[in-house]
Amino acid sequence: MGTPSELACSRCHKVFPANRLLNLCECGAPLLVRYDVAAIRAAWANSDLNASAESSMWRYAPVLPAERSEAVTLGEGWTPLLEVKALGRDLGAPDLWLKDEGRNPTDSFKARGLACAVTMAKKLGVKKLAIPSAGNAASALAAYAAAAGLEAHIFMPNDVPQSNFIECRAFGAHVTLVNGLISDCARIVSERKAQEGWFEVSTLKEPYRIEGKKTMGYEVAEQFAWRLPDAILYPCGGGVGLIGMWKAFAELEELGWISSARPKMIAVQAAGCDPIVRAFEQGAPASEFFQNAHTVASGLRVPKALGDFLVLEAVRASGGTAISISDEEMLDATLLLARREGIFVAPEGGACIAAVTRLLQNGFLKSGERIVIYNTGSGLKYLEAFATRFPRQQVSEQDKLGGLITPR
Ligand SMILES: Cc1ncc(COP(=O)(O)O)c(C=O)c1O
Ligand SMILES: [Zn+2]
Repeated sequence: MGTPSELACSRCHKVFPANRLLNLCECGAPLLVRYDVAAIRAAWANSDLNASAESSMWRYAPVLPAERSEAVTLGEGWTPLLEVKALGRDLGAPDLWLKDEGRNPTDSFKARGLACAVTMAKKLGVKKLAIPSAGNAASALAAYAAAAGLEAHIFMPNDVPQSNFIECRAFGAHVTLVNGLISDCARIVSERKAQEGWFEVSTLKEPYRIEGKKTMGYEVAEQFAWRLPDAILYPCGGGVGLIGMWKAFAELEELGWISSARPKMIAVQAAGCDPIVRAFEQGAPASEFFQNAHTVASGLRVPKALGDFLVLEAVRASGGTAISISDEEMLDATLLLARREGIFVAPEGGACIAAVTRLLQNGFLKSGERIVIYNTGSGLKYLEAFATRFPRQQVSEQDKLGGLITPR
């Protein structure tokens, strides 16, 4: 167990052997890991996930690509699924839950994917890793690379949140700030990687990040005693979390642990960068590059996702939808949650709260449904964005005199 049987192309279905260093298929599409689920099913039961099971995503090691003993881990996953009752009452959704991914190492769900990717890279002999990132993936790569003793080469937009920049530097990564978006960062990595000897761990260009992220799907199933909720709202940038959960549900059904019922998968994007929402509305199979992307939800500033067609497939197959939220709406929703529940989420999580509100109002979501919001990061990673709502009073010249702090 813990050994994938093969990798298969998500578009042309070409099959590749497992345990090799691979990026994309020759056709340019992402590769997905396949397991011998029948063999795993014979050796592993959901009753094995008892009180003594590890409190991290490695409790699902039989469906992860490495053995538990090989894991580069900082305790990622097994995050709380919180019932948000007061907010649910306000919104008219009495069965509303929040999966709080802000509790992961480096304070975002990116820890899951990068724990898996760095584990596999180390196992397969890589020494130098490179990533283009909107910010949180960079922080996570920097942390796991430090833990594994590997080099991390990071390319991020120059207006990335300060938290991401400082974390990456603190973890000893090589950081380049780029005057542009994640798509510009990605171009630099692909141009330089061969010459520099870097292994690229960009979203979906590497097959193992999604394996870590799929554990968000295993967890929600287990936390609800193997009955999936009616709807899942997920803040969608590159879409890996959503694609990963969709994959997890298929594996769980093959394991015989859940039925064929699926939640409505709802992709939430920022109004300032919503290529997937536009494609969904137009009935298109893939998205167009979104020009001039801008949003405070830096993780959603992905103008064109490599796996857009997989996100759209999952959203459509599940009877879900795609919706965009303005920056003001997401900050308002974040602060409403903070005041009502004592949970301070990233604007990406706030976007999902705003989306629930709107989808209840327009009748897409029904009051009796069990709804789960994925909050993908901590609000503390976005202090610049929230500072716009809470400007601090300037210290007066008199107060500064002599550097003394005087009672007023
Ligand atoms: C906080 C946060 N939420 C959501 C996303 C989007 O992630 P995904 O690629 O899974 O769509 C990101 C990506 O950077 C992020 O940092
Ligand atoms: Zn292919």
